[in-house]
Amino acid sequence: MSALTELYKEIADCRDCELVKHRTKVVPGEGPEDAELLFVGEAPGWHEDQQGRPFVGPAGQFLDQLLALIGQKREQVYIANVIKCRPPQNRDPLPREIEACRTWLDRQIEIIRPKVIVTLGRYSLARYFPNEGISKVHGKARKVGDFVCYPMYHPAAALHQNSLRQIIEADMLQIPRVLDQLAKGAEVPAESQQLSLF
Ligand code: URA
Repeated sequence: MSALTELYKEIADCRDCELVKHRTKVVPGEGPEDAELLFVGEAPGWHEDQQGRPFVGPAGQFLDQLLALIGQKREQVYIANVIKCRPPQNRDPLPREIEACRTWLDRQIEIIRPKVIVTLGRYSLARYFPNEGISKVHGKARKVGDFVCYPMYHPAAALHQNSLRQIIEADMLQIPRVLDQLAKGAEVPAESQQLSLF
């Protein structure tokens, strides 16, 4: 059994926070174990909770369109969330729920070791840059520990605010360049610095 499949079994048995009482299905994440890109959203919504799969509702349809812009299909990338179970009424995840779920995403990342972690929205951004606002840091690759993070707005934001659509699309279109620069061995700025190359 693959390391990810074993991890999914552990996640399915998780009872570490009260969201277990509300969920229909746990949504661990999906994608290849050797994915170069790992996208991290916030938490499952209604559709995801029904199907046990991440980003399968309206925000997911937009994410699929965004991936198509860079010639990627969802099967080629890894898609996960900060929180693996749907909060009731889609409320914001609570700090204790985020903390309880923390280890699962850490372990997914350790197994996959993606080239770039793309954070979608403020909850996944906060995991890597707790003191940064999305409007300042979106579209800028930064090194965090062993990994390169690339913050983006959440695709659902464009569904509520049309003006963000172009920004999200433009940020997505930069991702192949980031991968290309990494392949060439370019240095990525650490934490709060920014390099024009990226
Ligand atoms: N929004 C998220 O953050 N994640 C999903 O899986 C779906 C919608």
